[in-house]
Amino acid sequence: MCGIVGYIGKKQAAPIILDGLAKLEYRGYDSAGMAVFDGEKVNITKAVGRLKVLEELTHGGETMPGFAGIGHTRWATHGAPNDVNSHPHFNKDRTITVVHNGIIENYIPLRNKLIKKGYEFVSETDTEVVAQMLDYYYNGNPLDTILKVLHRIEGSYALGMMFADHPGEIFAARKGSPLIVGQSKEGCFIASDVPAILRYTRKVYFVDEQEVVRLETDHMHFYTLDEEEVEKEATTIEWDADAAEKAGYEHFMLKEMYEQPKTVTDTLLPRIKNGKIEIEELGLSDEEIAAIKKIHIVACGSAYHAGVTGKYVLEGLARIPVEVDLASEFRYRDPILEEGAMVIAISQSGETADTLAAIRESRQRGFKVLGIVNVVGSSIARESDNVMYTWAGPEIAVATTKAYSAQLIALYLLAVKFASVKKTIDEKLYQLLLRDLKRLPDQIELLLNNKEKIQHFANRYIGARDVFFIGRGIDYAISLEGSLKLKEISYIHSEAYAAGELKHGTISLIEEGTLVAAVSTQPALYQKMISNMVEVKARGAFLLAVTNEGNKEIEKVSDYVIYIPETNPYFSNSLAIIPLQLFGYYVAVGKGCDVDKPRNLAKSVTVE
Ligand code: F6R
Repeated sequence: MCGIVGYIGKKQAAPIILDGLAKLEYRGYDSAGMAVFDGEKVNITKAVGRLKVLEELTHGGETMPGFAGIGHTRWATHGAPNDVNSHPHFNKDRTITVVHNGIIENYIPLRNKLIKKGYEFVSETDTEVVAQMLDYYYNGNPLDTILKVLHRIEGSYALGMMFADHPGEIFAARKGSPLIVGQSKEGCFIASDVPAILRYTRKVYFVDEQEVVRLETDHMHFYTLDEEEVEKEATTIEWDADAAEKAGYEHFMLKEMYEQPKTVTDTLLPRIKNGKIEIEELGLSDEEIAAIKKIHIVACGSAYHAGVTGKYVLEGLARIPVEVDLASEFRYRDPILEEGAMVIAISQSGETADTLAAIRESRQRGFKVLGIVNVVGSSIARESDNVMYTWAGPEIAVATTKAYSAQLIALYLLAVKFASVKKTIDEKLYQLLLRDLKRLPDQIELLLNNKEKIQHFANRYIGARDVFFIGRGIDYAISLEGSLKLKEISYIHSEAYAAGELKHGTISLIEEGTLVAAVSTQPALYQKMISNMVEVKARGAFLLAVTNEGNKEIEKVSDYVIYIPETNPYFSNSLAIIPLQLFGYYVAVGKGCDVDKPRNLAKSVTVE
């Protein structure tokens, strides 16, 4: 959601900014712009639509020479995507320029105050108020002025700022929206995320909450809002720039689906030592685990779907009651958290505003939060009491696949670990569960290698209007994710239902030929599922079944069957989701959709 890139150094800024913004395209945007100081004045160019338009307008940056600049991809919140509302925003004489990710919540009273003082606003955005306020308070000292403004604005921000009378500096600040800075021999960088600058440097600093950075060609200085300078440690990024490239795949989503065996291995194996699960980063002794009375899982979207699976697995194996909440609901429902409760927040990006707010709400009430997070150093990682990283590496496609798979593994590990500590499973079952977990990567690979079959099937459904996914228990959780994968990238209306719930209303939507994907991986529920499948078939549905090898009976009622290899039923989500991801992907490809960057969506949702 909005991308920021800034540069000051020995090289031309514009090409570096364009290149960085291209690496942030996955975040979602509908317009782009940049401001570059040419030695005398600041030049600004903006363009609606794809970054390519801005690149063409500026001949790859050539028409905007200069060694300092800031750029932005905008995902519209306040005001339509057009040239005026696009960033950078500026003061009247264009000496102060600003790019912003986040929302300035009190922008209306601040804007009204400035209008009374004679300021004119040209855009509908909340961001413009920052540029105009910087102008209003400007006293020749940018840092001092920025701090004055930051003390007055409410909401969230990652900001990049330039002052034309200080050509040797650019500035950055952050509160609640992601921002990193980096340094190389050639200059200093601002970015919303690491891939934007990884080509130039591996030395990055995670900007802390309410911190301001002054960047020069050779130096960076960090300040608190009280203008105290702070020393910070650089982090060296270990993963390779290639990890954020397509590596010959047609789409990032396909590449990331193919990375799932590795993602699962990387999340799983380092936590199994000498035949035991050891999760050092959990920060809980066996006594503390034994004392857990309830678990609250908070997350959004696919991470929430992983949480729903987690509920079934944790309750089933460890016999701990689990409540799963959409983070956006949890934060406003005055949740009841009682002694002995543990909160688990799940997030790929580590920046989701609602999940972050749910964490803050829980901690404020005195409860510890375990974050299951993919992005190292992200806000959720920093604000959780303990972090269990999902080692999925950078995920670029907007629709999550490999990070979701890694989240499932983290939850299985917790469930099996808690079960063994609570002695709700015996040693024999414990070892069988570990064996089945270790088999998952190869089994996932097997399913991925079967992609042609699913591609063939998907091609028949590119014209579908509605698709329903049904399942019971864990299969319902799988259905939720399968349905989301299809609709978010192919724009085909799709819904997931607990199979037994269908006849309480939704079955009236089933018509001749409606595709119903029935997930049936829980042997104890096979017969119940067959009854539900027969109900929709009788109303004309075309039935796709996803089930375990050996469940031949399902063929009698299905039109098409996809088998998954044998595993413990608690882990079947990790396998059944693979054909459903492939199905969504190939339907979207068949329809010619922009698979990696679906319309209206952003990779990290940093506003509520
Ligand atoms: C769907 C998808 C989203 C995210 C959700 C939470 O494919 O990716 O539903 O799962 O926006 O994002 P994170 O995990 O970054 O908190």
